[in-house]
Amino acid sequence: MAKKIISDLNVNGKKVLVRVDFNVPLENGKITDDNRIVEALPTIKYVIENNGKAILLSHLGRVKEEKDKAGLTLAPVAARLAELLNKEVKFVPATTGALVEEAINNMQPGDIVMLENTRYEDVDGKKESKNNPELGKYWASLGDVFVNDAFGTAHRAHASNAGIAANIAETAAGFLLEKEIKFIGGAVDNPVRPFVAILGGSKVSDKIEVIESLLEKADKVLIGGGMMFTFLKAQGYNVGKSKCELDKVELATELLKKANGKIVLPVDTVAAKDFSNDAEFRTTSVADIADDEMGLDIGEQTLVEFNNVLKDAKTVVWNGPMGVFEMSNFAQGTIGVCEALANLKEATTIIGGGDSAAAVIQFGYASKMSHISTGGGASLEYLEGKTLPGVAIVDEL
Ligand code: 3PG
Repeated sequence: MAKKIISDLNVNGKKVLVRVDFNVPLENGKITDDNRIVEALPTIKYVIENNGKAILLSHLGRVKEEKDKAGLTLAPVAARLAELLNKEVKFVPATTGALVEEAINNMQPGDIVMLENTRYEDVDGKKESKNNPELGKYWASLGDVFVNDAFGTAHRAHASNAGIAANIAETAAGFLLEKEIKFIGGAVDNPVRPFVAILGGSKVSDKIEVIESLLEKADKVLIGGGMMFTFLKAQGYNVGKSKCELDKVELATELLKKANGKIVLPVDTVAAKDFSNDAEFRTTSVADIADDEMGLDIGEQTLVEFNNVLKDAKTVVWNGPMGVFEMSNFAQGTIGVCEALANLKEATTIIGGGDSAAAVIQFGYASKMSHISTGGGASLEYLEGKTLPGVAIVDEL
């Protein structure tokens, strides 16, 4: 069944509670990446352009104690949003109470109010993160309808998403959530084949469920990143000082058996003696890694083989970098995969959030991909085939 989306709602004159994920990286109070704010603009614009009153809620970071609050205020985020919209965003430095209610009562259609970080409520008994029923009910009472556009938080059942939805007449998805469901949900549930998954990142233990899920759904699973060495060890190779989870070698052996040829492992690696961009490095066959070397990237021949698999793909999902791309000497594998996906003209290319999204953006390939997810943990859990609470709470049409 299809989900209700914001354009299915009548927002005219209504108080529209919008849960966004403005959990953006900050350095000394400055936003270093505003992508999540930019991606929420279509939904916010829709509300105000259709005479709704937009009341925005988001978390920012993890607020455990009173002293965490000052560094995690949403004030700079509200300022950035106002800049992007070229419109006033009234920031309320409170999450509940008179200040909030007064600001909302004073709203005119087309106005925007943003409340303070919802996780300020966590200082007092983790009310937000534990989905305190009273808190969800209170926030719901501030609006007429609820729009969830916070895909990045969709794997959490917190008061500001699940709690509000449980206590309000209507819940719809915002345009960003709709896009994430269409691309990631579409790939997982109904991919156009051949469907190829590319998985990287440092640890097998972080990706067990996603590997298992994609082994069932994808036609091929290409593995790079630090976790490739646990698989190579399972195949009997000497991996030297490379990152290898010895307690996961047995699991890797089982996964390889279960994969029945679906898993494609690297044939070469860029290896160095130290974990440093200043270390001497060489590209070597995976069969020839010395005891004092560690593999820090996939090699050129591996890229040729990955390209061979990718060239016929119609759907590609990528989660996790191929090497230590933060160091220029070990970034070529990740750049090579960006390039390979950018060259696929007929395929839907989906980048799971987190490091792979950061790499695609950093290396200038963002516009070449069909979709770059704004979720880190959320996109991983979605790819694992789990039901995300933030998606489940949206009404069916
Ligand atoms: C994220 O950045 O992954 C989301 O905003 C969720 O944040 P959390 O892991 O602190 O719940």
